[in-house]
Parts: sequence; structure tokens; C-alpha cells
Amino acid sequence: MGTQDTLSIIKPDAMKLKYSGKIIDFIENKGFTIIAQKKIVLTKRQAEAFYTVHKERSFFNELVDFMISGPILVQIIEAQNAVSFYREIMGSTNPDEAEEGTIRKLYGTDIQCNAVHGSDSMENANIETSFFFSKLEMIK
Ligand code: CMP
Repeated sequence: MGTQDTLSIIKPDAMKLKYSGKIIDFIENKGFTIIAQKKIVLTKRQAEAFYTVHKERSFFNELVDFMISGPILVQIIEAQNAVSFYREIMGSTNPDEAEEGTIRKLYGTDIQCNAVHGSDSMENANIETSFFFSKLEMIK
């Protein structure tokens, strides 16, 4: 498989703890190139739209409130097999269960405040990157 783009979000917990620099360094050291990046604060409506796939889950409202609780850093990152490779280096959703040396193990707090988001499929990577960025903002 060739080069792919995937969406990364450094979540409010990691931003508040000032881990964004360490996470960017980690991602670049794994060979990813940052194609686009911006710091934003999501509105409630935007967070609900982004996480619409989880709207029936018990944690949905909590998740939305968490994601609008402070700035986030959204990024498009590129690498060979970016989608699965980024999922691998992020580690399991729950930092307690994440493998040693993964982003969530190093910088996550709990199952909700788990430091980063990464797209879970190529299809979702396309949907999620275009949710946040226009083609003009992607520098290859
Ligand atoms: P992510 O996998 O990036 O996208 C869905 C998010 O919902 C997940 O990260 C967590 O931040 C959050 N989440 C998943 N499961 C739970 C849970 N059981 N309780 C609270 N938040 C959760």
C-alpha cells in the first residue's frame, strides 16, 4: 500500500497538559509528515457532527462536552499506511490498556481523556480530513 493521509486530533486533555509538542515530535519521529495543522475550539454543533457515529452511545454527551472544553490541534498526517500505522502508535482507546510506548500510554489519562484521535478507516480519514480542512490548506 502507498502513502495515505489520516486525521489526527490532539484532544483538550493533552493540550491542557502541554503535551502537544511532545506528541508532534513523536508523530514526526515515526516518519509522518504534517500536511496541515490548526488549533481550534470546536462548537457544540461541530463536535456533535464530528462524532455523529457515536450519537447513540451512553458517553456521547460527555464526549461532546469534553471535546469542546478547550482548544484542540487538528492535523492531517501522511505516511505509508497512515491510517493503520497511526492507530498502532496511538495505542488502545483506554490508556490503561494501551501498549507501552504508545501515545495514549504516555500521554493519556483515562478512556475519555485519551490524548489523541485517529481515523479508523481510509473512508473515515477522507470524511474527517475534509470535515476540518479545505484542499488549499493541505501542503504536500
Ligand atoms: P476516540 O476513539 O478517538 O473517539 C471516540 C471517543 O469517545 C474516544 O476516543 C474517547 O475519547 C471517548 N470514549 C470512548 N469510550 C468511552 C467510554 N466508555 N467512556 C467515555 N468516553 C469514551
